[in-house]
Amino acid sequence: MATNKARVKSVEESIRDTEEPDHQLKKNLSGLDLTVFGVGVIIGTGIFVLTGEVAKTTTGPAVAISFVIAGLVCGLAALCYAELASTVPVAGSAYTFSYATLGELVAWIIGWDLVLELALGAATVAVGWSGYLNQLLGDLGIPLPTSIAGEEATVNLPAIFIVAVMTGVLVLGIKFSSRVTSVIVAIKVAIVLLVIVVGLFYVKAANYSPFVPPAQPSETGSGWTAPLIQTLFGFAPSTFGVGGILAGAAIVFFAFIGFDIVATAAEETKDPERDLPRGIIGSLVVCTVLYVAVSLVVVGMQRYSELSSEAPLADAFRSVGLPFLSGAISVGALAGLTSVVMILMLGQSRVLFAMSRDHLLPPALGAVHRKYGTPYRITLVTGAVVAVLAGFVSLNLLANLVNIGTLFAFVLVSVGVIVLRRTRPDLRRAFRVPLVPVLPIVSALACLYLMLNLPGDTWLRFGIWMLLGVGMYFVYGRRHSRFSKIGAAERRAAGQQAGGER
Ligand code: ALA
Repeated sequence: MATNKARVKSVEESIRDTEEPDHQLKKNLSGLDLTVFGVGVIIGTGIFVLTGEVAKTTTGPAVAISFVIAGLVCGLAALCYAELASTVPVAGSAYTFSYATLGELVAWIIGWDLVLELALGAATVAVGWSGYLNQLLGDLGIPLPTSIAGEEATVNLPAIFIVAVMTGVLVLGIKFSSRVTSVIVAIKVAIVLLVIVVGLFYVKAANYSPFVPPAQPSETGSGWTAPLIQTLFGFAPSTFGVGGILAGAAIVFFAFIGFDIVATAAEETKDPERDLPRGIIGSLVVCTVLYVAVSLVVVGMQRYSELSSEAPLADAFRSVGLPFLSGAISVGALAGLTSVVMILMLGQSRVLFAMSRDHLLPPALGAVHRKYGTPYRITLVTGAVVAVLAGFVSLNLLANLVNIGTLFAFVLVSVGVIVLRRTRPDLRRAFRVPLVPVLPIVSALACLYLMLNLPGDTWLRFGIWMLLGVGMYFVYGRRHSRFSKIGAAERRAAGQQAGGER
C-alpha cells in the first residue's frame, strides 16, 4: 500500500484502477498497431519543415549529425520508457510512472508539463498543417486569405478545422483512430521513401562542402535568444560549427517527439508487456533511419543556404526541376501532419484521463463513453483547448517550449527507472534497460544537455509555466487527490477510535 506521507501510488493500485467499470478503456491494439501509431505521430513537422530551417540557419549540411544526436538521446530515453511501460502498463505514460516512483507532486508536475508536449505540440502541428494546406491551395490557384490561414492568421480557420475533425475521430474509438492512422502512415512513409530514393539521383557532392560551416556570430545576438549553455558559460552567441550542431539537435528533437506517446495507449494494448517495448523502440528506430537519410539527401540536392524554411522537401524537388513530385510531397506532408495532430491529442486526453481517475482533476471529466469506450469528455475538452491555441495564438515563439517540456519528462522517466528498481525490485519487468543505473543516468544527463542548448527565453517561459503548475497543485490537486481522501478517512478513523477509547 502507498504511504500517505510520500504520496507514492503503488504499481498494484495503478493497475487495479484500470479495472474500475466507469474508467475502463477497450483493449484493442497490437504491437504492430502501436508501431504504426508511433510512426504516425513521430514523422511530421520535424522532418517536413524544420530540416530546412535548421540547416539554413543553424547547422548547414551537418543537420544530419543533429538528427543522429537527437535520435541517440531519444533512443536512451526510449529504453527507459520501454521498461516502465512494460512494468506499469497503465494509461498516462510519464505521469503514471512518476506517480509510482517519485510521488504525487512530481506526477502532477509531469502531468502539467506534458500539456506543453501534447496540447501545445498538437496546436503547433495544426498551424503547420494549415500552412501546407494553403500552399497547396495556392498551387491550385485558390489560396485562402492570410488573415484566416497560415502562421500569420488572425483566426486560423484550417487549423481549427483539422483539430475539430480529429477530435471527432478520437471520440469515435481507438480502433477507428488506429485504422485512420494506418492509411495516413502508409502515405507518409511512401512519400519519405520517395524523397530518399528519387532525391539520391539529384545529390551534388559540392553541396556537402563545407559539411560543418565554420561558427559565426549569431545575428539575433541577444542573450535570451542564444542557447542557454552559451549564455551560462559566457560564450558570444554563435551559429554553425559544433555549437550549431548541438543547438540544431535540440531543435530537431521535435521531429522525434511521439515515441513516448505510444506508452500512453498502454491500457488499450492487448499484451502491453510484450507490445509496448516493441512499439516504442520499433517506431523510433524506423524514424531515425528515415530522418538521417532524408536530411542527407535534401542538403545534397540543394545548397543549405537556399533551402526553404517552410517546405524544404517539396522545394528541393522544385529546385531540381521536378515540380510534380514537389506537389506529391506537399500532399504527403499534409496527410502526415494530420495523424500527428490526432495522436498528440490522443496522448493528451489519456494523460488527463489518468489524472482525473486519480482525482487530481475532477473525476467526472474522465468518464468513458458507453458505446465508443473512449474518454469522450476529456477528449472534447482537449480538442477545445488545442483548437483555441491553434486558432488564435501565435505559436512561432512557443514551439521550443514543446521540446523543453518533453525533454523534462524524459529526464524524470529516466530517473524513475532507477528509483523503481530500488523501491520495487520484485516487480515483473518484461523489458529491462541494460546497465542500470549507468544508462538511465546518461539518458537523464543527455536530455538535460539538450535542454541547455535551447534558448534562454524558452527556459524563462518554461519556468513560468511550471511555477503556475506547482501553484495549481496546492490550490486544487493536493486537496482533491485520492491520497487526501485516504488521509481524511484515516484521520476520521483515528478520531473515532480515540473517542471510543475515552
Ligand atoms: N514529431 C512530431 C513532428 O515532427 C511531433 O511533427
